[in-house]
Amino acid sequence: MILVTGGAGFIGANFVLDWLRETGEPVVTLDALTYAGNPENLASLQGDARHVFVHGDICDRALVDRLLSEHRPRAVVHFAAESHVDRSIHGPAAFVRTNVEGTFTLLEAARDYWTMLASDPKAAFRFLHVSTDEVYGSLGPKDPPFAETKAYEPNSPYSASKAASDHLVRAWHHTYGFPALTTNCSNNYGPYQFPEKLIPLMIANALAGKALPIYGDGRNVRDWLYVSDHCAAIREVLARGRLGETYNVGGWNEKPNLEIVHTVCALLDELRPDPAGAHARLITYVTDRPGHDRRYAIDARKIERELGWRPAETFETGIRKTVAWYLDNQDWVAHVQSGSYREWVDRNYAQR
Ligand code: NAD
Ligand code: TYD
Repeated sequence: MILVTGGAGFIGANFVLDWLRETGEPVVTLDALTYAGNPENLASLQGDARHVFVHGDICDRALVDRLLSEHRPRAVVHFAAESHVDRSIHGPAAFVRTNVEGTFTLLEAARDYWTMLASDPKAAFRFLHVSTDEVYGSLGPKDPPFAETKAYEPNSPYSASKAASDHLVRAWHHTYGFPALTTNCSNNYGPYQFPEKLIPLMIANALAGKALPIYGDGRNVRDWLYVSDHCAAIREVLARGRLGETYNVGGWNEKPNLEIVHTVCALLDELRPDPAGAHARLITYVTDRPGHDRRYAIDARKIERELGWRPAETFETGIRKTVAWYLDNQDWVAHVQSGSYREWVDRNYAQR
């Protein structure tokens, strides 16, 4: 079996669901259920003997030790993190705690566990650290996309904390021979994404007839990858990635934010027309994010060359599925838009 941290969040939940469907191998999920963690994401696994959910913190060394010795996983896939750049600007402490100290705690617990394994399970053991392209910093319009050799230049408290965790993972491999792998992926979108991130926020606001807040001039560029493609990439790296290596994962799909929002609006106009007019009328320019990275782009040739992975979805197919999922799962959206969600919206948008 495998141990997945952060499996009640957006990508982690998609990964656990896809993993069980694709491989059938049992999973223990460890998740602290912060505002971003939602047991409803894994509700379809209730009563499934292949899945165990543990409510707990990756910073809790005794708990992690106990889970490793009780369940004896052959791998750890580490998603748990604070993941939202805007929240990291308002409150960086939680990012240092979970992303840096939490990763350190997991690495140390997993290293102790791995050291004591017999030679065959020891040789097979893997620790896969899920990271982001944001550690590489910001690109100019003509710069080449991020390759794995690009120097780290993190600019936000979020990306700095992820960069720190990547460095710990690298050092644990280099110093202790610990069997670690790292993936650095671009912006994901798809089902179960918390509506604080661009695409689900725009869908939720558009359906509610609320303003669609565009930071700055809306020309910041991100590379977008449908979440199930990221999950497939992680399965490939876990199965066949070279130890100690990092693999960049991306969708070959760079787009400015404004284009993303117009695409979402056009799909909503088609699937859920608003009698008051086109959804794009709600687009509103607001004060920019401090330190807002201008452009991210991923050179995903290494993972294709070494592991044969390429995204299966195009942006057109992925965004259509995503909008349809949110339309079909309005209850899920309503549940996560709880009191704490409203506090966040006030805090981030009221003063802009
Ligand atoms: P998310 O915020 O949706 O989910 C994070 C999960 O981690 C939540 O379930 C939360 O409860 C859990 N968690 C937080 N702190 C914890 C702690 N101390 N102990 C245990 N669990 C804890 O994040 P996501 O978007 O699913 O991202 C998952 C991972 O992928 C992160 O490491 C993130 O840096 C990385 N990543 C995300 C993207 C993206 O576009 N969302 C892109 C590249 C990489
Ligand atoms: P986000 O989904 O927060 O991901 P990240 O900052 O990790 O790339 O934001 C994606 C882009 O959308 C980013 O350039 C910021 C921008 N954005 C807005 O313009 N308005 C918003 O309300 C949000 C949440 C993001």
